[in-house]
Amino acid sequence: MRLLAIADVHGNLRALEALLSRERLGDYDRLISLGDQVNFGPKPRETMALLTKCGFEMVLGNHEERFAHLGEPAFAGYGWDMLRWTWNQLGQRFPALPVDLRFGTVWCTHGTPGDPYHLVDGNGMLPFLRELPTPYRLLLSGHNHRRWVVSDGERLSVNPGALGMLEGEPPGCVAPYAVLTLRRGHWHAEPRQVTYSETELLRDFQESGLYEAAPEMAAAVVRQMTTGSGRQVLRLIKTIQRVSAETGRSADDPEVWHEAGHRWEKEL
Ligand SMILES: [Fe+2]
Repeated sequence: MRLLAIADVHGNLRALEALLSRERLGDYDRLISLGDQVNFGPKPRETMALLTKCGFEMVLGNHEERFAHLGEPAFAGYGWDMLRWTWNQLGQRFPALPVDLRFGTVWCTHGTPGDPYHLVDGNGMLPFLRELPTPYRLLLSGHNHRRWVVSDGERLSVNPGALGMLEGEPPGCVAPYAVLTLRRGHWHAEPRQVTYSETELLRDFQESGLYEAAPEMAAAVVRQMTTGSGRQVLRLIKTIQRVSAETGRSADDPEVWHEAGHRWEKEL
C-alpha cells in the first residue's frame, strides 16, 4: 500500500498545484490531507474544490473547527477577520470532516488523536505513538507546520510539514509532503518537497481582497509562506495580546491590530 500525505494546505493553491504537477496520483492507493485545508491563504474555495476533485480524504483542522464558533465572542487576538473572509469565500459552508480518520494500521489526525488543537513536536508525539491501540502502526498528523519522522521502535509518527506554509525552513515557497509505503507489515516514510512561484502566490494575495479584509494577518501569513522562517503568525498574535494588555483595549479592536502590526514589522 502506498499513501500520499499532505497537511496544512491553508488555501495555498500554488503549493497544491505544484505538488499535483510533480506526482501522479494514480500511483497511490489513498490520498490524505491532514487538516487546515483552508484559512490563511488566498484561494480557499479553489483549494477545497481541487482537493475534492483529486479524491483527497480530509480530516478536520483547528482552523476549520473554528468555523463552528464564528458567532461567538472572539477569543483574544485570533484572526477572526481572516477567518470570516475565508468562510465567506467558501459560501458559508464547509463539509463535515472527521477529527480522526482510521484505516488498516493507519491513524490520521490534525494535532494529536482526537484533538485538532493540541500542538506538539515530533518528540511530543512519542507518548501518543506508544499509546496507539492495536493494530495502528502509523500516526499521520499536521498542525505543527514542521516536518518529522519519529519512531518508537515499532510505530511511526510522520508529519509531512505544512504544504502551504512550511515553518522554520527558509527560503520559503517550499511545499513539503510525504510518501508512505507499507512493506512486509512495516511502514516506510519518504519526505518529499516541491517549490512553487512566489510571484504567483503574491499575485493571488493581491487579487484576493485579503489585504483589505485582514491587513496585519495577511502580511504575517505572506511573510511566513515566502520566507519559511518560523512562527510569524504566532508572533503577530502574541504582539496583539501584549498591546491589548498594555492599553486595556480589546484584542478585537482594529487599533490594537494596527499598532501590533507596526510593532511586528519593526521587530523583524
Ligand atoms: Fe495549520
